[in-house]
Amino acid sequence: MKVGVLGAGTMGAGIAQVAAQAGHQVVLVDLNQNVIDKAKADLEKVLNRLIEKGKLTSEASQDIQNRFTYSTATADFADCGIIIEAIVEKLTVKHAVFQELESIVSEDCILASNTSSLPIASIGSVLKNPSRIIGIHFFNPAPLMPLVEIIPAVQTTTEVVDKAKNLIDSWKKITVLCKDTPGFIVNRVARPFYGEALRIYEEGIADFATIDWAMTELAGFRMGPYTLMDYIGNDINYTVTESVFTAFYFDPRYKPSFTQKRHFEAGYLGRKSGRGYYNYTEDAVMPEPVKDLVVGQQIVDRILVMLMNEAIDALFLNVASKTDIDLAMVNGVNYPKGLLAWAEEKSLTWVLEKLQTLFEEYGEDRYRPSPLLKRLVQQGKSTF
Ligand SMILES: NC(=O)c1ccc[n+]([C@@H]2O[C@H](COP(=O)([O-])OP(=O)(O)OC[C@H]3O[C@@H](n4cnc5c(N)ncnc54)[C@H](O)[C@@H]3O)[C@@H](O)[C@H]2O)c1
Repeated sequence: MKVGVLGAGTMGAGIAQVAAQAGHQVVLVDLNQNVIDKAKADLEKVLNRLIEKGKLTSEASQDIQNRFTYSTATADFADCGIIIEAIVEKLTVKHAVFQELESIVSEDCILASNTSSLPIASIGSVLKNPSRIIGIHFFNPAPLMPLVEIIPAVQTTTEVVDKAKNLIDSWKKITVLCKDTPGFIVNRVARPFYGEALRIYEEGIADFATIDWAMTELAGFRMGPYTLMDYIGNDINYTVTESVFTAFYFDPRYKPSFTQKRHFEAGYLGRKSGRGYYNYTEDAVMPEPVKDLVVGQQIVDRILVMLMNEAIDALFLNVASKTDIDLAMVNGVNYPKGLLAWAEEKSLTWVLEKLQTLFEEYGEDRYRPSPLLKRLVQQGKSTF
């Protein structure tokens, strides 16, 4: 099957590389010739690095590059079996593009979007045949991150879902199926990792470095929340939070934080701007955490139960299966364990008691335990 990728930016270029490495002919299209030239040059660099490391032969590298057709014209998608769109995150632009794509491709060509935040049902609504729309959400960098969320819209046929899932599985990715709901799995379930860490700082319980120390050293996360937000960029992370909050009709559980907004407004975007929660300029000294084990454990427990509650609520609302929710967090954001398995390990009673204590102390809806958690504990169950 010939694979079309629209948009040769960060995500599109990576997705095209994955498809070509899996043996497909790939048509990579972007409006901007400079972006295409960069994608082409970057691919050559990446493949050369793989050759140097002995992970690829120069023949294989040449084969991969020969499978590419680069173009600025969507007409070149005519004989593709699937198009994956990875252009700017604007619904009006995506609508125009998908209508154009439908007029070019064959009737059974799957039309997929890599959107992070737009409803798939809404993207597909402009198509004459919306049953072929699907979300195929890769993580950045696409060639390295194993997870791909597959998101059928209400209009999508099961045949399209199966075809898309089988295809991405054959690219050696870990696919998870999820409902067309805000943030899909990862960007929804991960919100408290940032939100609760920001809240803990705002209450003056600990500083950035201490919260990061607790989450890495005591909880085993690869990066602390503040290091990670600086890595992602406070502009991007804040925008995702705000869009999830809005999309959930202002559910207080997803409320954005003023601390992050002010950092974003000040241009403290993180690593890319030289300063975020930490200072990345050359002579800057990284702050030392206060390694108080009692405070550290309080921080870990509070963020962890909020994450677990989010995962449990996603299960409760059938956003995805238990297996897929855990696979998503381990393979999409490198969590040390799946949150549902972790909750079972800590015990569901422990999770519920911690949440109830927070809920009673603050009286905020943000801390309400998921009905599924309450139900299971009431029934004396220890697993989901
Ligand atoms: N960057 C991430 O971490 C990430 C992760 C997962 C999903 N996404 C999603 O992937 C999509 C692309 O994100 P990105 O970070 O790669 O963006 P990007 O800005 O790096 O690339 C977008 C590319 O699309 C091109 N483009 C814009 N309009 C076009 C059009 N009408 N026709 C052809 N090309 C067009 C631009 O020239 C640009 O090269 C977005 O929907 C985003 O939400 C991004």
